[in-house]
Amino acid sequence: MIEANGLTKRYGRTLAVNDLTFTVQAGRVTGFLGPNGAGKSTTMRMILGLDRPTAGGVRIDGKRYTDLKEPLRHVGALLDAKWVHPNRSARAHLRWLAVSNKLPEKRVDEVLALVGLTDVAGRRAGGYSLGMSQRLGIAGALLGDPGVLLFDEPVNGLDPEGILWIRQFMHRLADEGRTVFVSSHLLSEMALTAQDLVVIGRGRLIAQTSTSAFIDAASGSSVRVRGPELDRLREVITSGGLKADDAPATTEGPAALVVHDATTDDVGELAGRAGLVLHELAAQRGSLEQAFIQMTGGDVEYRTGDPALAPVAGVAGAPVGVPGQPGEALASQRTGAPVAARKADAR
Ligand SMILES: Nc1ncnc2c1ncn2[C@@H]1O[C@H](COP(=O)(O)OP(=O)(O)O)[C@@H](O)[C@H]1O
Ligand SMILES: [Mg+2]
Repeated sequence: MIEANGLTKRYGRTLAVNDLTFTVQAGRVTGFLGPNGAGKSTTMRMILGLDRPTAGGVRIDGKRYTDLKEPLRHVGALLDAKWVHPNRSARAHLRWLAVSNKLPEKRVDEVLALVGLTDVAGRRAGGYSLGMSQRLGIAGALLGDPGVLLFDEPVNGLDPEGILWIRQFMHRLADEGRTVFVSSHLLSEMALTAQDLVVIGRGRLIAQTSTSAFIDAASGSSVRVRGPELDRLREVITSGGLKADDAPATTEGPAALVVHDATTDDVGELAGRAGLVLHELAAQRGSLEQAFIQMTGGDVEYRTGDPALAPVAGVAGAPVGVPGQPGEALASQRTGAPVAARKADAR
């Protein structure tokens, strides 16, 4: 288990990490999510005792990193996969790590097998692909058979096969009862990888929640509705006290209305009382991306290929969420039009 308490780091005028309190449980994969510059790497370095907090602290299984007698037996980390001497072989690199940390040398061949590098272990690490380097980094993290593992953006730059491998490997580590804490700025990836989320923006905690609760809290706030008499439908909805926007016809479907902060029950009953025929009535499920952008809004350097998911301006200053109550953070961020409707420019 990892417990951060009021963790804070200031670099000159930059408050990189601002009063972060969260816990990471054993036996689960916990995603550490936030846009670039949010403070994820800084937090991980403080967990590992590589950076000293300006205030607050963090404990690993109840102890400070610096109080761990043989740290690699408690915590393993992959912070930067390219941190390997290019002319050393994978096996030589791991042997050096093992010997310098008083770990048995036979463990080297075990971890090489675990990550599937046995066949290439004699090759110089400088010639490894990024995917192979990541595996080597993970092998290094596993050398001391630690109960707590930290991975900083491990899927960055990997091909789909490499991403799948890492995802499955993390689940396996968690199933073995380990604490697995993995950072990413990629929402879609975290939705598939992590069971729990710690979400930060600009160094502050936005939410600590299960991934499914995070998605649920983000969805169901608007309703898409369509019928042959769209103008009358709009009138009925508006006079019923709800706000409706036009959703023009697209390749996905004909023109419809999007009703905000409403349920399908609300809209269906209004239409029914007016005797209007409906051809479509559907709750719009928000995606994890939308929730993330709404929550971390103003401080996003985050990119996706989909222009509809590009950062939304004017949602700056994400509030601090109440741990375990993701809805708090989300509800107070609900502003006017749904994110997907506010098309930002593609970058
Ligand atoms: N060693 C450092 N010196 C000064 N500023 C730093 C240092 N490390 C990180 N920062 C700043 O702290 C903030 C958080 O950075 P970082 O932890 O790397 O974020 P993330 O990993 O979420 O992208 C950024 O504004 C970054 O520029
Ligand atoms: Mg980082």
